[in-house]
Amino acid sequence: MNRTESFSGEALRVVRGPRSGVAIAVAIHSTARGPAIGGCRIKAYPSWRDGVDDALRLSAAMTTKCALAGLPHGGGKTVAALPPHGWDPARRPELIADIAEAIAALGGRYRTGPDIGSTSEDMAEIHRLAHGWAFCRPEDQGGSGTSSAATARGVLAALQAGVAPGSVSGLRVGLIGFGSVGRLICQALLERGAKVVVTDVDSRLRPVAERLGAVWTTGDLVREPLDVLVPAAAGGVLTVESAAACGASLIVGPANNQLVADDVAIVLRDRGITWIPDVVASAGGIIHAVGREELGMDEAAANAKIDAIGDTAKTVLSRARERDLTTVQAARELAALA
Ligand code: PHE
Repeated sequence: MNRTESFSGEALRVVRGPRSGVAIAVAIHSTARGPAIGGCRIKAYPSWRDGVDDALRLSAAMTTKCALAGLPHGGGKTVAALPPHGWDPARRPELIADIAEAIAALGGRYRTGPDIGSTSEDMAEIHRLAHGWAFCRPEDQGGSGTSSAATARGVLAALQAGVAPGSVSGLRVGLIGFGSVGRLICQALLERGAKVVVTDVDSRLRPVAERLGAVWTTGDLVREPLDVLVPAAAGGVLTVESAAACGASLIVGPANNQLVADDVAIVLRDRGITWIPDVVASAGGIIHAVGREELGMDEAAANAKIDAIGDTAKTVLSRARERDLTTVQAARELAALA
């Protein structure tokens, strides 16, 4: 980490949950466009400081994501950094209560949603305990439900924009991460005639993927010759080294913070690999949640706004091409203009 960098966010609250003992970081990157929003990540980290760093990075990305998606919000993120060597899942209700308390203390400047390790049911509990500042409660409890289907829909819109005018049929796609969003993307791509190769750290998911018709691999998909690589697991799959060895023509997926650093985008561009920034491709979930729960949209209107991610992706790609920028630079420029 660069210790001399200045703090570009607005606020950072780090607490040790009084009930759970878990370190909880809530980062507010910006409220310039409206209250900060971003998911609640519950995950093991080598050190709680890594969790804080993740919250800061992810909250900044959410600001760009909200602006590009045209939402009246800024970026934020919650990270509950579980200890690296196991944690008793029976203590989860205590942890959720601690997270709700940390969010409530921010007085509405930040609203959360589901993310890696958290569910719609958790959002219902946070909503109850934290004055309503949580999106994506189950539909039968008045929320817009899990954001997975909407996130997958947005990735497919971006992917289609990336291969346009070609068709997905016959393409060889590598999918890293077979979680709730990854498996929906897998299913949709198989239905459209793509050949999908899947990997996940959890090998118990193998029969599920194979039942859908995908091929399972334990190999490194980043290095495989592919038409499309879809990062759908926790961030950071693309380093300068892996980008230099990457065998895909197009990279697009729902994982947040896919590049470990911005200069990875330069390596990808110089190698002729098209990377649709995660801040563009992964916006389906927030568009659906904010559209349904705050902006009064029905399902059709929310879906139309999610499908418009395809247009945003095309705008980012053409701006990058015209101005000789990386796609991440082009995305940030467009976000600043939004
Ligand atoms: N995981 C979502 C994201 O990072 C979080 C989220 C979903 C936040 C829905 C608010 C509403 O985009």
